[in-house]
Amino acid sequence: VAGCKIIRIKTIPTVNAGELSFFETKRDLSFEIKRIYYISKVPEGVRRGFHAHRKLKQLLFCPYGRIQLILENKYGREEIELSDPSIGVVIDCTTWREMLWLQKDSVLCVAASDYYKVEDYIRDYQEFKEFIRK
Ligand code: TYD
Repeated sequence: VAGCKIIRIKTIPTVNAGELSFFETKRDLSFEIKRIYYISKVPEGVRRGFHAHRKLKQLLFCPYGRIQLILENKYGREEIELSDPSIGVVIDCTTWREMLWLQKDSVLCVAASDYYKVEDYIRDYQEFKEFIRK
């Protein structure tokens, strides 16, 4: 969906020694990173998320495993499977997100434009629907 951009994270392969991925503020991202967090040790089949942000911009990526993202914003609804460490999703408008762990121990990493602020969260789906209608 518009407002959520799938990007290729710069990735350097090596012969029989894996690959290395990286991104840099300004050069590869439209916002400055103030916070990084990651979600790990999640059993298969678990869903997390169920919220949107009023202002926060984020880059989501999955360096290990397989996670389905369900994204919804004023432009529509989309499902994206993250299973490639060199793929990221930039969310830069208010977007409801749910994440489904398709594989145990998959890791979801997030680079965010701001510090953790409780007041930036919308955790009620109806409130989110009203927010994007305005
Ligand atoms: P939450 O946003 O509910 O996780 P998810 O939506 O991915 O399932 O966050 C879980 C808890 O962690 C919640 O109590 C808030 C806290 N938290 C922080 O303290 N700092 C952070 O940067 C984040 C992302 C969460």
